[in-house]
Amino acid sequence: MFSKNWYDLIAIIYDGFTFWFYRKMRKDLIENLDIQQGDRVLIIACGTGQSFDLIEKKTGKQGEIIGIDNSEGMLRKARKRMEKHHWTNIKLIKADVRDLSRDFFIQRDINPEFDIVLAELAFSVIPSWKKVMQTSLQLLKQGGKTGILDWYRPKNDLLTRIANFLAQADITRNIPQYARQLMQDFKIIKTCFYGNIFIGTGTNKAKSP
Ligand SMILES: C[S@@+](CC[C@H](N)C(=O)[O-])C[C@H]1O[C@@H](n2cnc3c(N)ncnc32)[C@H](O)[C@@H]1O
Repeated sequence: MFSKNWYDLIAIIYDGFTFWFYRKMRKDLIENLDIQQGDRVLIIACGTGQSFDLIEKKTGKQGEIIGIDNSEGMLRKARKRMEKHHWTNIKLIKADVRDLSRDFFIQRDINPEFDIVLAELAFSVIPSWKKVMQTSLQLLKQGGKTGILDWYRPKNDLLTRIANFLAQADITRNIPQYARQLMQDFKIIKTCFYGNIFIGTGTNKAKSP
């Protein structure tokens, strides 16, 4: 719809409009991921890094956080956040998350195995989201955990259309159902905003046939 990256256009106002709205949900999600000191965390479509502080507190300085996003505007905000807090264990990569693979990381001298993969407000926005979810599970260590915060509103009404426009998203995607297909133990921890937003976690244990 927009020739310029939408998130480059709105990066300057993104935190102002969203930070407090999602803050409690982000905290609840991170608490449920059981992140340990020294863990390596991959963030799919990390945006401005609104959860960096919550994750960094859990991983400590020995841990590592890798954030991927394709919007330079959003990443610029994320870099400012890192500089302000003197976080040196966060690495940001400007890339399309559809290009992620083990080789993507190996080519950049980054260990391609993560303890945690986090996707907040990502799968409702990125194209080929099912493929990206599959790939993200392949990047998890055995028993590693994935955390998802996202919208799911099957009704295509005015609220859906407004949310879809503002986020350039498709919030009718049944993300929980697909996550359950891929992860035998994927569960919704909580829903908020009248059931339209969920947080959920699962591990990369393969589903039994
Ligand atoms: C709604 S924002 C969420 C940002 C952040 N995860 C958060 O929770 O605040 C969606 C993000 O997805 C990013 N994005 C969309 N498509 C992408 C793609 N194909 N590859 C990488 N990032 C993408 C956008 O640049 C934007 O930062």
